[in-house]
Amino acid sequence: VNNSFSPPFYPSPETRGAGNWTYAVEKARIFVSNLTLEEKVNLTTGVGWTGGRCVGNIPAIERVGFDGLCLQDAPLGVRMTDGVTAFPSGLNTAATFDRKLMYERALAIGEEFRGKGVNIALGPGMNGGGRVAESACRPRLQVVNGKWEEGIPISLVNPPSTPSRVSKDAGVQACAKHYILNEQERNRTTSSSNVDDATIHEIYLHPFLRSVQADVATVMCSYNLINSSWACHNSKALNGLLKHELGFQGQVLSDWQATHSGVGSALAGLDQTMPGDVTFNSNNSYFGANLTMAVNNGSVPLSRVDDMSVRVMAGFFLVGQDSGYPAVNFDTFKKGGPLNEHVNVQDDHADIVRKVGAASTILLKNENNTLPLRKPRTIALLGSDAGPPIRGPNGYPDRGGVDGTLAMGWGSGTTEFPYLISPLEAIQRRAIMDKTLVSWSLSDFDYDLAVSTATGADVAMVFLNSDSGEEYINVDGNIGDRRNLTAWHAGDQLVLAVANVSSNVVVVYHQPGPVNMEAWIDHPNVTAVLLAGLPGQESGNSLVEILYGDYNPSGRLPFTIARNDADYPAQLEFINTNLDPQPQVDYNERLNVDYRHFLANSLTPRYGFGHGLSYTRFNLTNLQVSGLDKPTIQARNIWREESFSASNATNQVGSSLSEALHAPRWVVTADVQNVGGVYGCDVPQLYLVFPEGSGEPPRVLRGFERVTLESWSVETVSFPLSRYDLSIWDTELQRWRIPEGDFDVLVTSESAFDKQPLSGTIPSDW
Ligand code: NOJ
Repeated sequence: VNNSFSPPFYPSPETRGAGNWTYAVEKARIFVSNLTLEEKVNLTTGVGWTGGRCVGNIPAIERVGFDGLCLQDAPLGVRMTDGVTAFPSGLNTAATFDRKLMYERALAIGEEFRGKGVNIALGPGMNGGGRVAESACRPRLQVVNGKWEEGIPISLVNPPSTPSRVSKDAGVQACAKHYILNEQERNRTTSSSNVDDATIHEIYLHPFLRSVQADVATVMCSYNLINSSWACHNSKALNGLLKHELGFQGQVLSDWQATHSGVGSALAGLDQTMPGDVTFNSNNSYFGANLTMAVNNGSVPLSRVDDMSVRVMAGFFLVGQDSGYPAVNFDTFKKGGPLNEHVNVQDDHADIVRKVGAASTILLKNENNTLPLRKPRTIALLGSDAGPPIRGPNGYPDRGGVDGTLAMGWGSGTTEFPYLISPLEAIQRRAIMDKTLVSWSLSDFDYDLAVSTATGADVAMVFLNSDSGEEYINVDGNIGDRRNLTAWHAGDQLVLAVANVSSNVVVVYHQPGPVNMEAWIDHPNVTAVLLAGLPGQESGNSLVEILYGDYNPSGRLPFTIARNDADYPAQLEFINTNLDPQPQVDYNERLNVDYRHFLANSLTPRYGFGHGLSYTRFNLTNLQVSGLDKPTIQARNIWREESFSASNATNQVGSSLSEALHAPRWVVTADVQNVGGVYGCDVPQLYLVFPEGSGEPPRVLRGFERVTLESWSVETVSFPLSRYDLSIWDTELQRWRIPEGDFDVLVTSESAFDKQPLSGTIPSDW
């Protein structure tokens, strides 16, 4: 029996120009007031699949000098064109734990979209499954599903202000997607994600809250159902959570063919249907002429269509696209056609790619100081992932296949590689300097050749990969989501074969999330392991910087790696069924995602969330906790003093965005010292322990900082905490509430599982 139910929320809140949107909404209102009903409707309806130069197109309104809108993928660069950069994945970006790098990457991506004339960049992603790498999320089903880790969600891929600052700084409208609970690829268009109110608020809404705080211009509703109601006509999700509670002022656009109704969707808060037609090239639309008719026959109030078109234009004005914005200069569907002007927008972004690639590489194991390499006499490289792809870097459409080194997932979240530096090429270049003999065997299955190549080499490096992507491409039985967590092409066997003949095996893994390395991780001959993720076009160069110590590893796991697949909070089998026409996916783990599930169930992971080694060592001391605005605040719960319900808010965003809720209220500091011999970066993390009985997981991440330190130098890191950080969602009161009691504050450089973190308290009377 399916008991899931999504409560109604009507009418659709109108944009009021709250916060930073005042001027943009004013301009949009003036613009829209000059349009006919048909012209307004045109702003809400894409021209149809392949009907323009971009993956989504809003037609021009020549009468008023409006050129239309170009909507284009992807979260890691401009899709389906040339002259662009292939950036590291979102997941790699998350693994840096470095807000500055995240911003640099995002800004560079934004600049490329601008240079190509794209109005709306279809990213960043906020969820996962097969697409976890696009999103920098941490997986719900680790194999499969993703969502952002709490502090990381926002902060990671989108540092507290990233979507908007990126969009504003580059002048591009960002799109927070996919809203919401699109946590798996398999059955993504038929399954219902059934989740309780508290879990939605505390886990899944969080990255969207951060996006809205950062003035993200647009939000994309997703394919799935939410508690049995389609995401793109779910009034609770769109009208209620997004536009009322979060006070989102911009437009909601549908994922491609995710609209399932006209009147229903418009009333529920959908503002724009993409790509416009009901199904690709069906020549009809739920909006378009049908929306005009719905207004004329009274099914949809004109005020709703006014609001829809104002919201569409508000984003355009918010980021200043009304003056001096480049015209679209490429052609998604005809790369060799006359409309592709081949504008090159790469600039020096390769440097950022290389830097993020190195900063996101995670050193998991390093016995006998195997790494960094010191002028080895001989290196053997084993496995297809070491070398260039046989078919070239773009040999499979939308990267749906792997036959060489892996540096990007598959699906719409891709770009064309301008080039792809493989580990083999980069290591050979280094070998010229070091006079190293490099040999290789790029077959994954010729164990004899691998063994003879590895025998006698100072270092035998085995390259493994495993890939995932979007549902519309089935790669070897992986329908977007991975079928399992072991290495592709029987890579685990290759490691074992090589470890038989070499006592110095370094494993390098290119992967889109957690992997199962149990077959070889404890093998004494496997001396070092690097998780390199999906690092983009500079892959080999980033890796060489890490291998040879030019860049001291500082990447941290943005997910937990289990010892047993069964230890993950949700399992692939649960969703891997086609028996039910509308599979019900119950999120029974509730708040206990990733490390929280392990901690709550006393499961020891192989490597915990936040873990990652360095070539130096750090020491963390002197934890201090202080309250910031004690005199003005008698109670911790701000709502006791101040009503911030959205109904009273005039020029204010929604209740969940109240300034007082998010202002720093406490601050935690600690000193970190580099006590090893070399320069390096540490990533102290702050975990909160909620008072007993508050129903929260044992520990929750509420802060992280990446600090760069010379040998022996010390720095004080500080973690501001807001009331929101200490709150749970009270389902009765329908507001954020801080539970009674003391909070423990834990700070660690290790991981969520550290048994001896620094600790302090936020007492109940603070
Ligand atoms: C479907 C994907 O889910 C979405 O992320 C993408 O932006 C659109 N297709 C357009 O390609």
